[in-house]
Amino acid sequence: DVLDAKGMHLLPGAIDVHVHFREPGYTHKETWESGTAAAAMGGVTTVFDMPNTHPPTATPKDFADKLALAEQQAYVDFGIYGLMAEDNVDQLEALAESGVIGFKCFMGNTFGNLPSPSSGAMLEAFERVAPYGLRTSLHAETASIMAWRYERLRAAGRNDALAHVAARPDVVAVEAVARAAILAEWAGARIHVLHVSSAAELRPIREAKQRGVDITSETCPHYLMMDTRDYATLGSLMRVNPPIREAEDSEALWAALRDGTIDMIATDHAPHTPQEQYNDVIWEADCGFPGVETQMPLMLTAVNDERITLQEYVRVSAVAPAKAWGLYPRKGALIVGADADIAIVDLSREERIDQETLHSHRARATPFHDWPVKGMPVHTLVRGRFAMRDRQLQVQSKGTGLSVKRVQSMPVAQLHNTHKTLAAEIAKASVEQGETAHVD
Ligand code: NCD
Ligand code: ZN
Ligand code: ZN
Repeated sequence: DVLDAKGMHLLPGAIDVHVHFREPGYTHKETWESGTAAAAMGGVTTVFDMPNTHPPTATPKDFADKLALAEQQAYVDFGIYGLMAEDNVDQLEALAESGVIGFKCFMGNTFGNLPSPSSGAMLEAFERVAPYGLRTSLHAETASIMAWRYERLRAAGRNDALAHVAARPDVVAVEAVARAAILAEWAGARIHVLHVSSAAELRPIREAKQRGVDITSETCPHYLMMDTRDYATLGSLMRVNPPIREAEDSEALWAALRDGTIDMIATDHAPHTPQEQYNDVIWEADCGFPGVETQMPLMLTAVNDERITLQEYVRVSAVAPAKAWGLYPRKGALIVGADADIAIVDLSREERIDQETLHSHRARATPFHDWPVKGMPVHTLVRGRFAMRDRQLQVQSKGTGLSVKRVQSMPVAQLHNTHKTLAAEIAKASVEQGETAHVD
């Protein structure tokens, strides 16, 4: 049973730290089975699922219930986020101990309508999770600014797609990132900025990094590859939080990805049914669209177009997320053998993204429909087993995905003070070399 990988590249499987697989509660949009099948088909071997399900993942019981669902269905490995909100502050230690991969804090309103915590609650929450070394991922948009703008736009009778951008000017993220970084720094907590969408937001991220805050960030393919000009044709289909902005923002995000201000690519895979996505009244359309299956083809196309190198792609899709979550080199490194999480890709394979064939089958509408791509994952291996082979989902691998956990859970303060030398050793040991291989 020999695999013919002639002419292909072996990459560490992608790690997507931002997906919404919707179960429990919204299984008409997505399930663990369909979401992880889409991941396997996209060369993604580990996903981190967000807590805005119904019920939200706010207690150890919610976590255990979601874990059971995931274990029965998953094609790929996964982490489960715990919610960090005003009304579950007392649950955070128990959640940390139950095995969450990290926390998610909704600073601004988005799908699920989870109320955003006050700065007071956030500070206590950061203080409580800091000793566990777990990272908190932030939906960094300030709720009160958006609520104000939204009311003003509604009153002015605006219902068009661009009103969504006007309701969420980039300052909502700038303000939220700066505030969260101050609170995290004070508490010695690790944070991650989700879905960076603007040039302006890069400044508070850079400043926090320079101060030594343990802050990482991600952007998503849609912020890199689309801009405001696309609203005219795509309308509410490209409504997403935060909004897709100007062409200058996309350019700044590409540069930030190359220079390391943005550490990684995630997809914010946010499936909704087409009926929920399409609406002439922009405020009525659900925000987000599927992404876990299209990330690798889109980004490999960018490699072919020389927007980034293959080496940089491996850094932002696998190495950086694995390191940020304490999983490297168990995850994110190119290991061949029984523990291999690998995407075998054909960089010369040309296709068109076809929403009809996506495995998020309840939510197939994507703004990337019909986009030509060059570069496809052909085989996906999770811990040495095929999840996809020759572009076919391996149905027998359903339910083989496992929950991943941070190994090194040292609190940031300890890392910075007592264990400086150890941290330096770890950093040296994981120098990125030989992260890709080519089969001649
Ligand atoms: C996400 C969803 O639908 O769960 N939607 C989105 O527009 N990004 C929520 C989120 O990440 O804000
Ligand atoms: Zn969000
Ligand atoms: Zn999201």
